[in-house]
Amino acid sequence: MANKQAASGRRIPWAKAEFWGNEEKYVIDALQSSWISGGPYVERLEAACAQLLGVPHALAVANGTAALDLAFLALDVKPGDEIIVPGFAFMAAANVALQKGAVPVFCDVDPRTWCIQPKAVEKLISKRTRAIVAVHSYGNMCDMPGLLALAAAHDIPLIEDAAEAFGSRMGSLMAGARGQINTFSFHATKTVTTGEGGLVTTHDSGLAERMRLYRSHGLRRHRHYWHELPGHNFRLTNLQAALGVAQLEKIETILEQRNRMYRRYKERLLSIPGTQMQMITETCEAAIWAIALKLDAATFPQGRDDVMSALSNKGIETRPGFQPPAEMDYFGPSSVPVSEDLGRWVISLPSYPSLTDGEIDYICNELAMLGKAG
Ligand SMILES: Cc1ncc(COP(=O)(O)O)c(C=O)c1O
Repeated sequence: MANKQAASGRRIPWAKAEFWGNEEKYVIDALQSSWISGGPYVERLEAACAQLLGVPHALAVANGTAALDLAFLALDVKPGDEIIVPGFAFMAAANVALQKGAVPVFCDVDPRTWCIQPKAVEKLISKRTRAIVAVHSYGNMCDMPGLLALAAAHDIPLIEDAAEAFGSRMGSLMAGARGQINTFSFHATKTVTTGEGGLVTTHDSGLAERMRLYRSHGLRRHRHYWHELPGHNFRLTNLQAALGVAQLEKIETILEQRNRMYRRYKERLLSIPGTQMQMITETCEAAIWAIALKLDAATFPQGRDDVMSALSNKGIETRPGFQPPAEMDYFGPSSVPVSEDLGRWVISLPSYPSLTDGEIDYICNELAMLGKAG
């Protein structure tokens, strides 16, 4: 397999958008109906997501960043407000906070689960804390019961950024279903995709109404050109929603295949010295979005970036872990040593449902050979 893969010149991508059934049919249907901006697929997508997640309100939006923006607008985040965000995560929430003139306060993550923990968050709460953003990175979930209790005790809204955790759950608690507001991304690399796209969910009908207005220039349908508030255009198109509806019809298959991929990687990586997979939070049934592991410096003295280059030479595309805020000057100083270490040593391997067991074995063998013990 190893030689065949390298000799064929075929590359294994890090991620791949995959289509499972009715995607083409529904997109053509949307095209032919001439509903290419809003339309019935948007409503179907929202209804299907609301049902799956067990929430009364689900609004489709243009992307996951717009979803976070809507959350902050609905919660009336103001300049000077503090937003607690993880030091190790995709930085969308921190970026949007800055755009609102708010201050992202970085919370270091747990070294095993790579998620924020209630105790660490509690130490950062101040009079100016306006929201806590729990990012469920790579599909793993934060300690939701703990964070929900903490947020309730301090009367601070909790936002779940579940962009990477569509389908993950803790018992009956789905990711992205219990915060005051919750956000998802349907980007092409994500578990469910509409190309670009996203979703906000909430149980609060007042917040849902504000987000509906902010999503579309503050317009109400019954009165043309009347703006209730200074909104955006964060709408998803009917064409994109058609893709999402088809994907949701196959969500069980998608999750089963992602699970198979995870189990195979886990089995193989356990036997490779110097690699530590992200530990899944107790009681979380994770719908793994991306396989990520931390390399041990003693076993991989060449460093993570050299390992990535060597794998690339073997036709394997990888991604580094999320870069910590200190790497980006505009965030200013932060004290998140665990996040910094993860940013230096985490590598994410190809992760998509159709990745075969043979390809996973090939990737793991090549990685093992790069370690000192290899
Ligand atoms: C955790 C997290 N939040 C937010 C986003 C932003 O989503 P989008 O790219 O759809 O704007 C992403 C995207 O990759 C993400 O991983």
